[in-house]
Amino acid sequence: MKKGSVSGRLNAARKGVELTTAIIGVGNLGSVLARHLVAGDERVVLAAKDESHAEALAEQLAPLARAASVEYAIATADVVVFAVWLDTVKELIAQDASFLENKVVVDPTNPFGFDENGQVFRTLPEGQSSGSVVASLLPAGAHYVKAFGTLSAEMLARNANRTPRRAALFYATDDDEAAATVERLIRAAGFEPFKVGGVDTAVRFEMPGGDLHQHRLNGEVLDLDQARAAIHPKEVPA
Ligand SMILES: NC(=O)c1ccc[n+]([C@@H]2O[C@H](COP(=O)([O-])OP(=O)(O)OC[C@H]3O[C@@H](n4cnc5c(N)ncnc54)[C@H](OP(=O)(O)O)[C@@H]3O)[C@@H](O)[C@H]2O)c1
Repeated sequence: MKKGSVSGRLNAARKGVELTTAIIGVGNLGSVLARHLVAGDERVVLAAKDESHAEALAEQLAPLARAASVEYAIATADVVVFAVWLDTVKELIAQDASFLENKVVVDPTNPFGFDENGQVFRTLPEGQSSGSVVASLLPAGAHYVKAFGTLSAEMLARNANRTPRRAALFYATDDDEAAATVERLIRAAGFEPFKVGGVDTAVRFEMPGGDLHQHRLNGEVLDLDQARAAIHPKEVPA
């Protein structure tokens, strides 16, 4: 079955069928994600602004990891994770839109920056999610999903394959293929996937402000039962 066909690509979301995930950005978040995916037997292609950063990490994670230019990584992968800041995602989509057709695009961005005093500020208007911005910029054939941005990189690193109960990771998408693919990747990374809803729910688990982001959960990393309770707080008995 061809990977490019709809059924072929849905099939590729299943464990056991080879899938290549491009991770663009190998900083705090991208490097943790690359390590987790490789530990879960996933193939990754890594890219960064400075190619030597991607090469250094790929060397550590070989043979399931290799390094490439941003353009080549996007063009040759089935899935693209933009582990870069929101403004960079916007630039890269503008540059490489045609390569994103038919790809699953995973967006972990949070709309914040730091002011001159090191204080966090929101880079988008209240109520607007970076998920809605990124999704709106993608070509029509891309499969968008918001995921992997709800925990700090440090907590993502520490909570993979947690026992006795795996930690849950929230995701949001309007797209079945993106959902199936990101569920595979979340499991491979050592977590349990939990769909909050469509892209319009992404604002709930972005920082700053999202009630399902780790920052608003007092730093807690939830398991599946706690995640279910957190998305429907009114249904939980007092
Ligand atoms: N850090 C966290 O705890 C965390 C948690 C959840 C979500 N996130 C989100 O993840 C994203 C990345 O955060 P981070 O903390 O990992 O950032 P970071 O440590 O600053 O890393 C950014 C990465 O982006 C790369 N990059 C910058 N411009 C690029 C370009 N034009 N083309 C390709 N790559 C480029 C950098 O390349 P070089 O290596 O060459 O500099 C670097 O590898 C942000 O949107 C953030 O909101 C972060």
